[in-house]
Amino acid sequence: MGDSLNKRENWNGLIGFILAGAGSAVGLGNVWKFPYITGMNGGGAFVMIYLCCIVLIGLPLMLCEIAIGRKTQKNPFGAFRALHPEKTKVAVFFGVAMLLCGVSLLILGSYGMGIMLVLGGAAVITWGWAAVGALGVLIPVLIISYYNVVGGWTLIYAVESLVRGGALADAQFTDAHFGVVASSWKYSLAGTGIFSIFVLLTVWFGVSKGIERVSKVLMPLLVLMLIALIIRSVTLPGSTEGISFLLTPHFGKLTAAGVLEALGHAFYTLSLGMGIVITYGSYLPKERNILGASIWIIILDTTIALMAGLAIFPALFAVGMAPEAGPGLVFKIMPVTLHSFGDGLGALWCFLFFGLLFIAALTSSISLLEVPVAFCMDQLKWRRRTAAGVSFIVISVLSLLSVFGAANWENILWAKDAIIKLMGESHLCGSFFDQMDIFCSNYLLPLSGLLTSLFAAYVWKSRNCLAELRQGAGNIWDTSIWLAIAGLRGDEHVPGRNQVIFTPTLLFGIFIRIFAPIAIIICFMNVIGWINLT
Ligand code: PHE
Repeated sequence: MGDSLNKRENWNGLIGFILAGAGSAVGLGNVWKFPYITGMNGGGAFVMIYLCCIVLIGLPLMLCEIAIGRKTQKNPFGAFRALHPEKTKVAVFFGVAMLLCGVSLLILGSYGMGIMLVLGGAAVITWGWAAVGALGVLIPVLIISYYNVVGGWTLIYAVESLVRGGALADAQFTDAHFGVVASSWKYSLAGTGIFSIFVLLTVWFGVSKGIERVSKVLMPLLVLMLIALIIRSVTLPGSTEGISFLLTPHFGKLTAAGVLEALGHAFYTLSLGMGIVITYGSYLPKERNILGASIWIIILDTTIALMAGLAIFPALFAVGMAPEAGPGLVFKIMPVTLHSFGDGLGALWCFLFFGLLFIAALTSSISLLEVPVAFCMDQLKWRRRTAAGVSFIVISVLSLLSVFGAANWENILWAKDAIIKLMGESHLCGSFFDQMDIFCSNYLLPLSGLLTSLFAAYVWKSRNCLAELRQGAGNIWDTSIWLAIAGLRGDEHVPGRNQVIFTPTLLFGIFIRIFAPIAIIICFMNVIGWINLT
């Protein structure tokens, strides 16, 4: 059974863990979403709200996930199981209730929801809380199947920006070309195939020899590429408008919906609720400081998101393009923008931009693949290479659906029919690709995030979570925040200095037990339209 019987792999150093964690956090969302929602929701004002969400909700959740992983040294499923092996009556009650609801829905003809509830109910009855861990393994498998397709496009565009010469400078050509790339399965298949092999190879070599090594090279490279693009972008005539779009605070533009957008993005960008952070945390040795590492990951993620904004928006405004988000921005608008600088280096800027996107997508995909691989190694006792190979094959088969259904349903009409039968016409989205993204990001992720936070806070209990966080963290957790702010830590003349009044420990407990679950519930209700904030 080879290496599966050996002791658990570890990160070589804290920097490796931080860079791998940041590699997972820094993804397409940082480039095509964050800058846009920032500009549209009041620039600097939005950044402040976003920082609050990241620190008050994102950080505590991240700490919980890393603590769950490091405590158990297992994949998400194994971790939940190890922390709560007993099947409680409450779990069985919930499972049976889900099962009954599911059966009723099936009888009433609501097949999609019915099947999900029956499967979910059966999982809860069989595994109890470990069903949440199972969800944490399933989500990355689903996400990677379409994320790799976008990764493939970044690769195709990076190569094309060099070989196609100035063709990408032409707005009409670029507009039509993205349609061709997305709807011709040959392009997507080639791109996705090569991209997936990069992901597979990294995971194949293991935690320290693969993931850590690759992150240590690629993350600094990504930052350098961003810096080059920023310097070019902000020195263009007319770029200041773009900088002010991104950074000038407009409190009037900030809406309740904007605040929820900040919250949702904070959650997504840190790769929470996907089992990734639990898995990466499981490779962290006990003597390492989880709090310090998490703060670094968050700083890197936020800084890189802001830097992406500074690379994109000043350039857009300088050449007179309208701000946008998503694939349209990166694959249609950006190539034209990067060719319009008038310095004759369009192809080079384009190559840099897509190379950067490729790295961002690659390190995120790597973190996604590592989750099912860790699951197979821990639970099924497979060797890493077998686990990686089998996960790769399963994911590649799933990817085919996104490859053939990236732009529209034409090539996979049977899947369209199946979705209409299962979910009803009203739930059908633009393409299979959109369908998967909405299902995973809007439904599965918040659900898994909410259950994970409730588990850490109430089932495993915040005090046990804290006990794990304290290991390797010195006495940071119990320092009085007031005394630290006032610069009076350790001053023996301060009366009551030993009284613990306001410490990170208290803050963590309160946020993880109360605010984080409430915040996720509100976010969830907002994305699925149960509350309608403007
Ligand atoms: N954090 C990523 C981002 O900002 C989200 C993500 C991570 C998506 C890993 C997929 C895989 O884009």
